[in-house]
Amino acid sequence: MNEALLDVRDLHVEFRTRDGVAKAVNGVSCTVEAGETLAVLGESGSGKSVTAQAVMGILDTPPGRITAGEVLFRGQDLLTMGEEHRRRLRGDRLAMIFQDALSALNPVLTVGAQLAEMFEVHQGMTRRDARTRAVQLMERVRIPAAEERVGDFPHQFSGGMRQRIMIAMAMALEPDLIIADEPTTALDVTVQAQVMDLLAELQREFNMGLVLITHDLGVVADVADKIAVMYAGRIVETAPVRALYAAPAHPYTRGLLDSVPRLDRKGRPLHAIKGLPPSLTDIPPGCPFNPRCPRARDVCHTDRPPLYTVGPERTSACHFWQETLEDRDDAGARR
Ligand SMILES: Nc1ncnc2c1ncn2[C@@H]1O[C@H](COP(=O)(O)OP(=O)(O)O)[C@@H](O)[C@H]1O
Ligand code: SF4
Ligand SMILES: [Mg+2]
Repeated sequence: MNEALLDVRDLHVEFRTRDGVAKAVNGVSCTVEAGETLAVLGESGSGKSVTAQAVMGILDTPPGRITAGEVLFRGQDLLTMGEEHRRRLRGDRLAMIFQDALSALNPVLTVGAQLAEMFEVHQGMTRRDARTRAVQLMERVRIPAAEERVGDFPHQFSGGMRQRIMIAMAMALEPDLIIADEPTTALDVTVQAQVMDLLAELQREFNMGLVLITHDLGVVADVADKIAVMYAGRIVETAPVRALYAAPAHPYTRGLLDSVPRLDRKGRPLHAIKGLPPSLTDIPPGCPFNPRCPRARDVCHTDRPPLYTVGPERTSACHFWQETLEDRDDAGARR
C-alpha cells in the first residue's frame, strides 16, 4: 500500500487552564497525499490551529500537551522520532504559512535577508547566491520590482504582498507539504482571491500536499480536493469537495453551507447556525453538536456518534447521516 504523505491518526491535544482541562483536539485523523489539497473547515475555536501546531511541532507546551496519536510523515511518526531527524524534516520538508505575516516575519530584518537566510542555512549557499535566489523567489510570487524591494522591511509591504513573501518563505526549500493556517483571512476580498490563486498554482507546479485551514467556505470550493469539517476538536465530516457541496452528510456542515451566500442559491434566505460551540472544558455528552442541531433526538444526548463511512471517501459523525444526506429537497437546490 502506498504511504500517504501525511497521515494523522487519532490525535488528542489538551490544555491545562484555570478553568480545567480544555480538550482542544479529540481524536483527529486525516490524510494528505502528494499533490492533494485538504481544506480543514470549522468555526473559530474548533481546534484547527492546535491540530496544525501539533503536526508542525510548534504547540505551546505547556500549557498544551499531545496526549495521544500519531503524526506519520511518509510513514514515519514525527511524534516519536529523534529530535534531530524531526527538526530536519520539519525544517525542510514541511512548511507553514500563518494568517498574520507581520508577526510571523522578523520586523528588523529585510525580507531579502530573511529569504536568503533559508538558502544559506539549509542549502549552504554563499550570501551572494542566496540573495539572487531570494530575488528570483520574490519574482516567482509576483512581487513587483523584486530587485528594488529585496532590501525593504516587512512593514513596508502591503498585507497582500507580505502574505506573498510568507508564501515565498514557505516555498523556498520546495517542501513536500505546506500547512496554511487562514492564509488569506486578514486580507481584502480581492487580494484574498489573488493570494489563494497563487498558492494553488504553486501547489500544482511543485506537486505539494497542501492543508488549507479556514473558517470560510467560500475560500475552499475552487482549490480543495477534499474537505474535513471540524467541530469541538473533532472531524465531523470528510468528503471530496464536490460531494460535500452537493449534499452534506452532517447537520453542522449543512448549517455552514446554509450560512454563506451562494450564487446558485440566489434569493434564498441565509440561516446562521444558532447558539455557540461548546466550551472545550465542558463538552456535552453524546454528540457535541446536539445543543445546536435541528435534527437532534434522544440518542444524540447520550451516545457519541462514531465516524461512519457514508460513501466513497466520505465519513460523517452523525447518527442520522443517512437522512441528512438524503434530504433531497434542499440538496437539489444546492446543485
Ligand atoms: N495557548 C493556549 N492555551 C490554552 N488553551 C488554548 C491555547 N491555544 C488553544 N487553546 C484552546 O484550544 C481551542 C482551539 O483553538 P484553535 O485550534 O486555535 O482554534 P481554531 O479552530 O480557531 O484555530 C481554543 O478554543 C482554546 O480553548
Ligand atoms: S448525531 Fe444527532 S445531534 Fe449530532 S449532528 Fe447528528 S442528528 Fe445532530
Ligand atoms: Mg486558528
